[in-house]
Parts: sequence; C-alpha cells; structure tokens
Amino acid sequence: MEALDPDRILSFVDTFPPPPGEVRDFLAGGDVQPSQLIRALRSAFSPDGPTIGDTPWWDHAIAVAEGAAMVAESTESADPRMAYVAGFLHDVGHLVMVRLDPQAFHQVLARQGDGTPFMAIERELCGLDHVRIGEHFARRWGLPDEICAVVRGHHELEGEITPLFASVVLADVWAQVLGYGYDFPAGGISFRVDEAALAADLIWSEQIDLLAQADYRVVARRRELGATPRPFASKDGGAERALWVSVHGGEPTPLGRMLLQHRGYEVVHVAATERLEAQGASLILIDSPWAEPDEVGDLVTALVPDGHAHVALLAEVGPEQTSRRRDPLSGICGIPRMFTAFDLRWLQSRPAVVG
Ligand SMILES: [Fe+2]
Ligand SMILES: [Fe+2]
Repeated sequence: MEALDPDRILSFVDTFPPPPGEVRDFLAGGDVQPSQLIRALRSAFSPDGPTIGDTPWWDHAIAVAEGAAMVAESTESADPRMAYVAGFLHDVGHLVMVRLDPQAFHQVLARQGDGTPFMAIERELCGLDHVRIGEHFARRWGLPDEICAVVRGHHELEGEITPLFASVVLADVWAQVLGYGYDFPAGGISFRVDEAALAADLIWSEQIDLLAQADYRVVARRRELGATPRPFASKDGGAERALWVSVHGGEPTPLGRMLLQHRGYEVVHVAATERLEAQGASLILIDSPWAEPDEVGDLVTALVPDGHAHVALLAEVGPEQTSRRRDPLSGICGIPRMFTAFDLRWLQSRPAVVG
C-alpha cells in the first residue's frame, strides 16, 4: 500500500469540487427532497463508484441522516435539515479515505474488534483520523460551523453537546446497533449514548421507539433510492419464531426484542422455571449471562429435540469487547446480551444446532 500521509490526504480533499447546489438549497429549506440530496451527493462523491447500498458507507450515512433528523424532529430541539446533512456527512472522512486508498480503509475495518480503538488505527495507518479529515472536508465545503463541529467531535464528544450534536451522536450509535455501518465494537460507544441522550433529554424507552421508527424510515429510503434490500431486512410475512429463555427470571431486553421484531421474528419469552419444550423456534436466545455453552446443553436438548435452530447464550461483555464465539462441540454461540443487528447476522451465518 502506498503510504497515506496527512499532507497527501488534505491536499486530496482540496481537489474535491464544491458542494452540489442541492446541499445549500436543502439547508435553506428549499423543496429539495432527501432522496434528491442523496443522489446529488453521490454524484459529487463517486460519479463512477459503487451504487448506493453497495457499500457500508452509504448505508451508514443514510441511517444516521434519517435517525438524526428524527431525533431533531421529535425533540424539536434542532433543525431537522441541519441534522440530516450533519448525519449524512459526519463520517465523510471515511469516504475520503476510501476514494484515496480503499486498501487503507479496509485495513482499518479488518483490524476492528482487536481491542484497539479504530481512530487510533486510522492515525497509525494514515497519520490522521476520519474526524480530522472530515472536518477539513466540511470546512472546504463551507458547511455551517455547527455541522463542522459535529463532524469533528462526534466520537470523542469534543466541544459543547448541542441538540444537533446529540442527535447525530445518538443516530450514529443506533445505526450501528441496527446493522447499518461497519460494526465497530458496540460496547465502547455506550458512554456516547448516555451523554447524548442526556443532552437530547431522551429516556431509554423513547430512544427504543425512535430507533424502531428510524429502522422503517431507512428501509423506505433505501427502497426509494433503488438500493438492493438487505438480506435479512424482512422475512416477507412468514414470521419465524425466536425463543428468549430467561434462566434467572427477568424479561427480554427492550432493545433485543425490538431488533428481533424488526428482523421479522415473533418473539416468545419463557422462563427456565417453566416446563421447557420445543416451540418450533429457529432462533433460541438463552439469557444466562454467566453460563458457559456446556452448562446449557440440557436446556438446548429440550428446546431443539428434532429440529434445528441457531442457539446463542447472551453474555455480559466489557466495554471494549465484542464477544462472538461458537463452541465447536455443541454449536452453541455466544453473543453480547446487548446484541446488535451485526451479532444476529453473525449468528444466522453460523451452522445451526441440530436436535
Ligand atoms: Fe465516525
Ligand atoms: Fe458514524
């Protein structure tokens, strides 16, 4: 790989043409629709590049734009159009990296999850992280200071957390949870949700509601733009069943329930104190955070007597860990208790446990 250095990156940014007129018109409240804005940005960024939906960058940008605008609308605290543009462009630094050297960006992605914060990996490989590159880009495009501040500060929460800033930070994290993006480790970003939710004055249940709505909006927007449907976005009516087994009592987490329902599952909850029997579930989640796969073998034998199902133990994981593992003997997997759409996708791509 040809070395990327800060001078080369910043001068590359300086060669980008000015923003398409749609950006200014959209921000000014003109009748430019979000899909027109997105199409204009796509032609500006990558006239010959992959189509929308073919790369995680675009899906992430759309999801964060929709989510941020939704937070701004529902809290009536920030201009939804500013939130849309800020959300769409918050990671523009990554796009610059991809345009300049796709290899470098793929190296960053390949090393995610090894415990190193990914911005440190970016600085190591490129001499600059995507928030610095993005800020340079946003300034070159003459975007409002508030948007530049979001681009610059969205990871380390630098500067004042304005409602606009908070809307993008929340939408950024939630987009990853919903499976739109690159799957940077989820645990380490939770403090950002807490800080931003406080600034946006949103309690947990309100966030779950917004998240569910945002998921529908993203699906609709992608469809409008002609993107290929995501592999597990819908199961077209034939609901599969997910069985949530609480070994120590308690309820399914609201986030987990929402994600499963949005992935087309009918969620059935049982307590391990009940008489357990197979319920025809294709997905079984065992909520027993400190158990090991071999300790729940009997439970699984009762639940999958003559079928097959993907079985996961929900584990408590620390802030910097992504815990996905599969026990080769039993086929039982481990995923975080606060799992994301990426964890579900991973689980579904492993071989099922056969009863
Ligand atoms: Fe970012
Ligand atoms: Fe992001």
